Amino acid sequence: MTTREEREEELVRSGHNLFNVPGPRVLVDLLTDSGTGAMSSEQWAGLQRGDETYAGSASWFRFRDAVQDLFPFEHVIPTHQGRAAEKILFSAVGGPGKTIPNNTHFDTTRANVEFTGADALDLPIAEAHLPASRHPFKGNMDIEGLRGVLAQREVPVVFMTLTNNSGGGQPVSMENLRAVREACGDVPLFLDACRFAENAWFVKLREEGYEDRGVPEIVREMASLADGMTMSAKKDPLGNIGGWLALNDAELAEQCRNLLILTEGFPTYGGMAGRDMDAIAQGLREAVDEDYLRYRVRSTEYLGEALHRAGIPVVLPVGGHAVYIDARGFLPQIPPLEYPGQALAVALYREGGIRGCEIGTVMFGRRPDGSEQPAPMDLVRLAIPRRTYTQSHVDYVIEVCEHVAGHASELRGLRIVEESPALRHFTARFEPL
Ligand code: F0G
Repeated sequence: MTTREEREEELVRSGHNLFNVPGPRVLVDLLTDSGTGAMSSEQWAGLQRGDETYAGSASWFRFRDAVQDLFPFEHVIPTHQGRAAEKILFSAVGGPGKTIPNNTHFDTTRANVEFTGADALDLPIAEAHLPASRHPFKGNMDIEGLRGVLAQREVPVVFMTLTNNSGGGQPVSMENLRAVREACGDVPLFLDACRFAENAWFVKLREEGYEDRGVPEIVREMASLADGMTMSAKKDPLGNIGGWLALNDAELAEQCRNLLILTEGFPTYGGMAGRDMDAIAQGLREAVDEDYLRYRVRSTEYLGEALHRAGIPVVLPVGGHAVYIDARGFLPQIPPLEYPGQALAVALYREGGIRGCEIGTVMFGRRPDGSEQPAPMDLVRLAIPRRTYTQSHVDYVIEVCEHVAGHASELRGLRIVEESPALRHFTARFEPL
């Protein structure tokens, strides 16, 4: 617990950037669902079994087999987290003049593409930018848009993010994934599969023909449409750290392994300890358990429905790992370039010690050419760590949101007084207007 006064001080000290606030000063931390989950007893048992052999440890084989059981790609390359897999892949296939389309790139994916000089292009369907539209698969890609890009530009790889994190944690349908595969022709299709299990669960719930299919089987069908994947084991695989790159192309895999050795480590551990690989192998089995997924998605929905009932605009349908508040709708008096998402995230911390994350113009507004433009949406993501908080924590979050809604018209925007050239949201400092 902190007092409102202490939080006011903390906001000044941190430059109104919640990434600068120390964890002990946060009461309910919904900054991210990445690496913040509680591991199960079997995962902790996995840590104890960890084999720290440098080359070819038993943990490596258990990890590789668990990955390939769901994603049967021929080459699995372990990394310390998702962005390391992205950095390696885009170093190999990116570069100036190239375009890498995605339903929507997440921040690190976009930054890693742009770092190579390539263009990171988002091709979501139109409904993805309408917070109130109840399209069941708002994570889908605009197929016509993709065809146009493939015809006109040099595209080394097409990406699909499951679920679409920047666009509200929304799933991609199997039908759309098949259409993307078809449009790609010979161009490789890769999955950014961080939240693959939640995506598969939504397919089972919402897509015709999948009601009676098992989640692992749905995941394998998604994988069968792709040529490879980048992965953060800190999300659905229930790890606190870890990731991988997997692919079928032997030559590209060799190139990636050479890059892996430079910065991550030997190809049978990448950036992980043996014990972490064991925890992830077990986490992968738990992530596709249908009782777990029912609980997981339903408890996120519980928060989203309560906010919606209270008249707070949220992205609908509610996503898998997070509730996204539409800050532009919530604070119409604050123009996008005065960062309504940041203003709302700061207000939730000031009033209740809750830490959410702006996903909007602060995160995506600065373009590679240095100009600034409003992002398509200004959202505040309340991400739910896996198996961590109880319903009473979530009820408290609902009460704080309702309290902030009662004073919404008094909130003002912010201006940035310090920022870095890329991924500015992590370190920028703000002043209230
Ligand atoms: N792709 C997606 C869709 C992600 O959400 C993330 C991370 C990554 C890639 C990178 O993975 O963190 O292991 O390097 N998202 C976190 C978040 C940080 O808060 O959503 P990483």
